[in-house]
Amino acid sequence: MPQRWRRSAAVAVVGLIGAAGMTACSSTDDGAGDRPLVGVAMPTTTSDRWIADGENVQAQLEALAYEVDLRYADDDVPTQVQQLQEMIDEGADALVIGSIDGVALKDVLADAAAADIPVIAYDRLIRESGDVDFYASFDNARVGVQQATTLLQGLGVLDDAAKPTGANGPFTIELFAGSADDNNATVFYQGAMQVLQPYLDSGVLVVGSGETDFDQIATERWDPKNAAARMTELLPRYTAGARLDGVLSPYDGLSMAILDVVKKAGLPQPVVTGQDAELASAQSIADGGQYATIFKDTRQLAEVAVQMVHALISGAEPEVNDTTSYDNGVIVVPSYLLAPQVVTEQNYSAVLVDGGTYTAQELS
Ligand code: BGC
Repeated sequence: MPQRWRRSAAVAVVGLIGAAGMTACSSTDDGAGDRPLVGVAMPTTTSDRWIADGENVQAQLEALAYEVDLRYADDDVPTQVQQLQEMIDEGADALVIGSIDGVALKDVLADAAAADIPVIAYDRLIRESGDVDFYASFDNARVGVQQATTLLQGLGVLDDAAKPTGANGPFTIELFAGSADDNNATVFYQGAMQVLQPYLDSGVLVVGSGETDFDQIATERWDPKNAAARMTELLPRYTAGARLDGVLSPYDGLSMAILDVVKKAGLPQPVVTGQDAELASAQSIADGGQYATIFKDTRQLAEVAVQMVHALISGAEPEVNDTTSYDNGVIVVPSYLLAPQVVTEQNYSAVLVDGGTYTAQELS
């Protein structure tokens, strides 16, 4: 256990106990008994999932009598650094950070460490810093495996049980990856390529553009506009007659943009993967559009992060289930990884409606 937050935890727990019977008061008050303050820094409001992440973490922390400073940074790195600096300056007792650029926070986290503030990397690993205490996320390599598996299932190369059907194509696909500054993007890509590579090697799959390197297929800031622009650049071979059978897409926002470009070009609908079960994609899956998505329950992720905060501030040891996978370049960050879940036309109702994410009306 890093020594530096032991001290602040001991101080802060007094605040938490003091909070039990008190009314809300500003954390900037300097009297003893203030509620512990947790700074929650999220990357963007351009995607539903991050809005839900922020709201879930905030609600669960407030239910435990913490004060919360929740900020979104519009996918702008200097804004996020400044927000974190302000949280440190206002005396945060812990930071929960969904980073934009995984390597850009080294200096501000050194300031957090100097102020004995524990840091939890939320969903995205914070890299190249020893000042990250815990990581709350999903099994991101598994997400990539699931994305590639659903692509192969949609193409008919694998059956529902992920066993080869013997279909040998060749099927023409294109590959898209996420933002190069987000560690998750590489992990998703590696997980997916592990599944796809044998089929690329055997010729069952062919990448029409030939672009398979991460750097060629990455999508800056996960921005759907950038994916649409790249898909538009890739179109000529397909509008000239080649058939586009499938697209590996790592995130629903990109999937919808890619489907839109392909549709407007008058091409047959390819098998398109996704991630996050965002409403538009869930509706599209229900309508037989996007083939699949990967659902990651942000309510559970919030619970994991809040459990970590609460343990740290109470002087206890957060629960982890992985102490080997996430080397951030300086330390291996102890992690709690949740299981991602495949969603297709077959099970969207059971997972997303019965599970309480959307109503049946929203998906009809
Ligand atoms: C998250 C994904 C999300 C992507 C774009 C990744 O770091 O893990 O769930 O689709 O960012 O927001």
